[in-house]
Amino acid sequence: MNTGILFEPIQVGNVELKNRIAMSPMNMGYTGPEGYASEQTNAWYATRARGGFGLIITECAVANPYPWRGSDGLNPLLADSQKKYRQLSQMADVIHSYKGAKVFIQLSPGWGRQGHPDLVKEMIAAGAPSAIPLEMDLRNINHGWARQIKRLGVTLLEDFGGVETLRKMSDEEYQGVKEIVHGYLREKLPEFYHIVRGQTPRELTIREIEQLEDFMVDQACACYKLGFDGVELHTPHGYLLHQFLSPRSNARSDRYGGSTENRARVVTNILERIRARIGPDKALGCRLSGDELMPGGLTHDETCALVKLFSDAGANFFNVSQGSYENPGAAFAPDGEDEFTRWAPGIKAASAGRPVITPGFLKPQTAAAALAGGRTDLISLGRQAIADPYWPAKVKAGRSADIVACARCQQCYMNLFEPRWIRCAVNPTAGFEKYYPELWQDEGLMDVRAKSFMDKRRDLPRI
Ligand SMILES: Cc1cc2nc3c(=O)[nH]c(=O)nc-3n(C[C@H](O)[C@H](O)[C@H](O)COP(=O)(O)O)c2cc1C
Repeated sequence: MNTGILFEPIQVGNVELKNRIAMSPMNMGYTGPEGYASEQTNAWYATRARGGFGLIITECAVANPYPWRGSDGLNPLLADSQKKYRQLSQMADVIHSYKGAKVFIQLSPGWGRQGHPDLVKEMIAAGAPSAIPLEMDLRNINHGWARQIKRLGVTLLEDFGGVETLRKMSDEEYQGVKEIVHGYLREKLPEFYHIVRGQTPRELTIREIEQLEDFMVDQACACYKLGFDGVELHTPHGYLLHQFLSPRSNARSDRYGGSTENRARVVTNILERIRARIGPDKALGCRLSGDELMPGGLTHDETCALVKLFSDAGANFFNVSQGSYENPGAAFAPDGEDEFTRWAPGIKAASAGRPVITPGFLKPQTAAAALAGGRTDLISLGRQAIADPYWPAKVKAGRSADIVACARCQQCYMNLFEPRWIRCAVNPTAGFEKYYPELWQDEGLMDVRAKSFMDKRRDLPRI
């Protein structure tokens, strides 16, 4: 299949993208102390910008000033004070210095009941719409996660017959397995237990929700001034904003719970207020799960209803994923590829044709076919962009055979939760980009002003 369609330009809001290949938001934990973008953060993105991604969507930056944001274990980028602005602005400039690369920042008020909390702060319960704890359904573990769990020396899943047997278990059969696994984790791997069974969160007050809205709006508006081309609200995967949207995690009876409009309110308020401040054209969108794929969770139909509300509130693009941390493997990080485009057409229709970005690809041909079939407007690479930062450039140069394929081994994800420095099983340079300048230095792609300065410098006599 001809892959030329990947390199057709596309407009998102007022941003002209040079191609239809985005890098998915990925929290790699390379952030420096106190949540500042680090040299490694910049080198990580610079390498992908050099690799030809038309759009880089940053890792989720947390815009929540309170200690209960529950984010410390993942070492996320923070957008929580003016002190962070210079580094954030440098990050955007670094990406822009590669010809035509654009960058959207993904912003989140935090993790909510999916707290992955810093263990020393256990006494500070995370704020969430309702006091309903998360519980992962282990029947959703995929082959990649199973490999990683085995790497940690845990053979329990295998003892129960492995992934395929688990998947087929009835609720009754699963109940017994669950008790044994929970007991094991509580005793032997307490640092993992909270991922499988979260702490019970604290119901946020209306005043606190309003403060979070204010904070998100201020940080988002600041991000445009810092040089980001767009802002993407982090509303998927069971994180705090998703918890408001989903009837599975939101049991409130005030104006933030109940009807679809009420559950959407925190997001529509944020969107409306940002849009009012930035004007009609700037890129402002949402990432959301096309279906939560959990009993009592958001269905695809209700997600489409939310997309309509978000479009009316000012969102002009959507980034589609699926699932939550209650079904992390089978849903939002599948073993295969092209699992998410099944939701994109519904979301495009509900948003009256606004551009849709869909992740989950490995092969250029599959990605090009999804675009050619009209199933999505942009494709994005997550784990494949960790494995090979030069995927776009290789495809464009007709060197697809040289692409280093993501093994879907989930080491990146598991390192995030261990928590260890995130590495890739097939790309030994991932996570160490700052030590390999040759990965991101490229005079041919250099900002024209920098290039002309370097050219002039070359003629200087030695003194
Ligand atoms: C290490 C890691 C961190 C991630 N962090 C985020 C994040 O910060 N925000 C987000 O919306 N999705 C996050 N994701 C999900 C990816 O953006 C993507 O949707 C998912 O990996 C599926 O796409 P893929 O098959 O192309 O990898 C993360 C994925 C990985 C592997």
